[in-house]
Amino acid sequence: MSDRLFIFDTTLRDGEQVPGCQLNTVEKIQVAKQLELLGVDVIEAGFPISSPGDFNSVVEISKAVTWPTICALTRAVEKDIDCAAEALKYAKHKRIHTGIGTSDSHIKYKFNSNREEIIERAVAAVKYAKKYVEDVEFYAEDAGRTDNEYLARVVEAVVKAGATVVNIPDTTGYCLPEEYGAKIKYLMEHVDGIENARISTHCHNDLGMATANTLQGVLNGARQVEVTMNGIGERAGNTSLEEIAMILKCHKHLNIDTNINTTKIVPMSRMVSSLMNMPVQPNKAIVGRNAFAHSSGIHQDGVLKNVQTYEIIDPKDVGLDDNAIVLTARSGRAALKYRLHVNGVNVEDEEKLDKIYKKFLQLADKKKEVTDEDVLMLAGADSADKHGVQLDWLQVTTGKGVKSVASIGLNIAGQKFEAASSGNGPVDAAIRALKKVITKEMNLKEFTIQAIDKGSDDVGKVHMQVEYDGHVYYGFGADTDIVTASVEAYIDCINKFKVR
Ligand code: KIV
Ligand code: ZN
Repeated sequence: MSDRLFIFDTTLRDGEQVPGCQLNTVEKIQVAKQLELLGVDVIEAGFPISSPGDFNSVVEISKAVTWPTICALTRAVEKDIDCAAEALKYAKHKRIHTGIGTSDSHIKYKFNSNREEIIERAVAAVKYAKKYVEDVEFYAEDAGRTDNEYLARVVEAVVKAGATVVNIPDTTGYCLPEEYGAKIKYLMEHVDGIENARISTHCHNDLGMATANTLQGVLNGARQVEVTMNGIGERAGNTSLEEIAMILKCHKHLNIDTNINTTKIVPMSRMVSSLMNMPVQPNKAIVGRNAFAHSSGIHQDGVLKNVQTYEIIDPKDVGLDDNAIVLTARSGRAALKYRLHVNGVNVEDEEKLDKIYKKFLQLADKKKEVTDEDVLMLAGADSADKHGVQLDWLQVTTGKGVKSVASIGLNIAGQKFEAASSGNGPVDAAIRALKKVITKEMNLKEFTIQAIDKGSDDVGKVHMQVEYDGHVYYGFGADTDIVTASVEAYIDCINKFKVR
């Protein structure tokens, strides 16, 4: 009989904390429903006290999702816990995740407190949360750098107070795998009453060891893992869900199972990447575009003779569809709708589908084959339509030995504007022209261009950060023309100025 490992997904909380990855409530519901289909056990839906948007998302996800437990994060503070309980009102299965820093540096610098007082606050928070829900998870923030003997005392106290799950975060991603594994083992062996709770891992990837640490935690007794899709999360991210799920699937001898339907992994990964405008690195394990691409002659030869020579995972097991329909300019609405559906985006509204289809035809005109990544990008880009500023047209003259000149046509809430400028390269010229129409004091802070797929006819994705009025705004644009994509990204930032 194998052991069951519970998957706690925090894409919508720890993952969503990443600058530029913020989703609106509708998008979060879309992700949560797909996580349900993927088979996660717990969805951490947000930190309700942090903003009305987060509160509302927890409420709406609670309504939309049936099987997974919905979890809300709090500090060890009564008003946070009240707020989380209120946000979880509609959840069929609910959990409050409360906690406090336990490392000496957190105790001293963050709380100006001492070890005994921290235990009292931890116990009080758990008891307070228990008034609202049966299922209370406690996190010992910076447990990775907390002395094991003291950590065991904290864990024992919160389990006695009623915590059902105890989370041992390596908040800073500092631990070595054997060190983290030994920590979990120590708790399993030294905490009285540990059989009444489940230990959870929560590893950050600052030193690239999040998955290794999580696995060591599991091998030493943890039976819940906190993970995100594509490993997104604070700084270098969290442990990625797909890596843990596939490690356990590939290494059956470990005798540990999850409820994950692995064939949903790739669509889930693409949906998160597309909605969050967060590209997946091409060589990312399991979900990177090169994860199953054999490029060297020796490897190709081996795989053709027998796939097992170089492939440990059948691509179909993670939902990579060999027979994916390639969309071209001749594909109809139904084919587009189907590709979106396969990738986890259901477009029921015919008007919305029409808009995406129109953009699809424009793209298919410029590109021979439209890939899954392209259609997801088009579906995401559709949300930009309702914004105030829109790019009507753009013309750029550039080349070697000539000055770049751009003319631009903008539609601002129904009114048409035009301007022209020269500049130091085509993007600079286009942005200078844009700034002649929108004369706000704004500065470009960061600018990255990335190709979605391969080939010179590919769509370029542009991420930008623009500073305005003391805040930094994140924008995204995509087009086969990178100057247009850059202007779209700049406009995306401008359109966010208002919502702050
Ligand atoms: O990394 C961390 O310590 C966290 C906690 C809030 C669980 O995300
Ligand atoms: Zn974290």
